[in-house]
Amino acid sequence: MRVLLIGSGGREHALAAALVRSPSVEHVFCANGNPGIGEIAELKCINEVDAGQVLELAREVHADLVVIGPEAPLVAGVADRLRDAGFAVFGPGAAAAQIEGSKAFAKDVMASAGVDTARYIACDDIETALDALHEFDEQVVVKADGIAAGKGVLLCHSHDEARDALSLIMEDEAFGEAGARVVVEEMMTGPEASLFFLSDGKTVKPLPSAQDFKRVFDGDQGLNTGGMGAYSPVPAVDDAMANELATTIAQPVIDELARRGMPFIGLLYAGLMLTPTGVRVVEFNCRFGDPETQAILPRLRSDLGEVLLACAQGRLDEIGDLDIDPRDAVTVVLASGGYPGDYRTGLPITGLNQVHNVAVFHAGTATKDGQLVTKGGRVLAVTALGSSIRDARETVYDAVDTIQFDGKHARRDIAEYPTV
Ligand code: AMP
Ligand code: GLY
Repeated sequence: MRVLLIGSGGREHALAAALVRSPSVEHVFCANGNPGIGEIAELKCINEVDAGQVLELAREVHADLVVIGPEAPLVAGVADRLRDAGFAVFGPGAAAAQIEGSKAFAKDVMASAGVDTARYIACDDIETALDALHEFDEQVVVKADGIAAGKGVLLCHSHDEARDALSLIMEDEAFGEAGARVVVEEMMTGPEASLFFLSDGKTVKPLPSAQDFKRVFDGDQGLNTGGMGAYSPVPAVDDAMANELATTIAQPVIDELARRGMPFIGLLYAGLMLTPTGVRVVEFNCRFGDPETQAILPRLRSDLGEVLLACAQGRLDEIGDLDIDPRDAVTVVLASGGYPGDYRTGLPITGLNQVHNVAVFHAGTATKDGQLVTKGGRVLAVTALGSSIRDARETVYDAVDTIQFDGKHARRDIAEYPTV
C-alpha cells in the first residue's frame, strides 16, 4: 500500500522507519518530513493543519492510508475531512481529539467511563475556581483547559500559589484561549509511565510501556522540555499489566467516546501515575508520544502498516498479538545548547556515519549546502536496543558521544535508575 504520513519530528521519523520496513507498505510519502525521513520516504511540502491541502495531497499520491502524527492537525479536524472523502485514516477526528485538546472534556469522559484519575473541578471563571480551592488540600494542581505547549499545568504547594496560578491563567491570559477554562485537581504522587493503545474505535490493543524524561537536566532538574529521552519497557508496567490497563482504562474510554458519537480511531496515549493506591490517569493525548515512540517502535516486529490500516478500517480485532522484540530500548535526545530557552541553529552535525547499532531519528535538522545542520531545539533522538537497560545505555551513549555539533546537550542519566 501507499502511505501518506503527516508530521516532521522524531516521532514521525520513527513511524516512517517502521512503515518502510512493513511488508505491506510499498511507498511512504511524508509531509513535511525532515532530512532523516527524506532518506527513507518521499517528502512533500504542504501546510499540515490545512485539511484542504492534506486532502489534495492524499489524492495526488493515491494514498491507501493516511497516518497523522501531531495533535495540531487532529484537533483541527484534518482526519474528519479525509475520512469524509473516503480515505482510510489513522488519527481521531476533531471531536475525539478533544481528549487531548480539552482537559475538562478528558476528565468528563473519565468520570463517565469510571476511570480512576485525580478528583477535579472544571471552572469557567476565576471566582468559581477560587471557591473550588476550598475543596482541596494545600497541594493542588491548576491546569489550563486547552493545549498550552506543555506549559499549562501548574503544580501548586499552597493555596496562595494556586491563586497566583489562577490569576496567571485567567486574568493575565498567559496561555490565551487555552486558559478560558481551568481544571483544578488533586495532586497525585508516584512515578509516571506512558502507555499507548491502538484503537479502531471499538477494539483496543496496548503497545509496550515507556517512560519519558521531561526535564532538561540530569536528576530531573531544570525546565520542562518536549522530552529528553525515554526507555521501554517500564519494568512495573509489563505485558500483563498493560493488558489489564487496556481493560480498566482504555476500553471504557474508547466505549464512552463511541457512545458519544465520536469514535476514537488512532493512538490513545495514557499518561499514568503509579500511585500508592494504584495506577491512575494523569492525562490523555490523541497521538503517539515523543520521544516514547522512538523507544517503542524499534521494538515492534509486526507490520505497522497492516496494524494501522486495520485500525483505520475498523477491523483491529482481526490482528493477532503484536510481535515485540523482548530487548530493552533506550532513547537519548540530543538538544541544542540553551533549549528549551533560546538556542543557535544552522550548526553543522558530524559523526552520523560513525555510529553503530543505533537508530538515529531526526527532529530539528536541515540540510544547508549538502551539510546536515541543526534547525530546532531537539535535534536528534538516538535509540539502542540491548539485552538489558544497561547494555542499551552503553550502546546509545557511545553514539551520543560520537555525534557532534556546537553546544550539543544530552542528559547523561536517561534510564540510569528506572524509577519503577
Ligand atoms: P499533563 O500536561 O496533564 O500531562 O501534565 C504535565 C505533568 O504535570 C504530568 O506529566 C505530571 O508530571 C504533572 N501532573 C499533572 N497532573 C497532575 C496531578 N494531578 N498530580 C500530580 N502531578 C500532575
Ligand atoms: N512525551 C510526552 C508527549 O508526547 O506528550
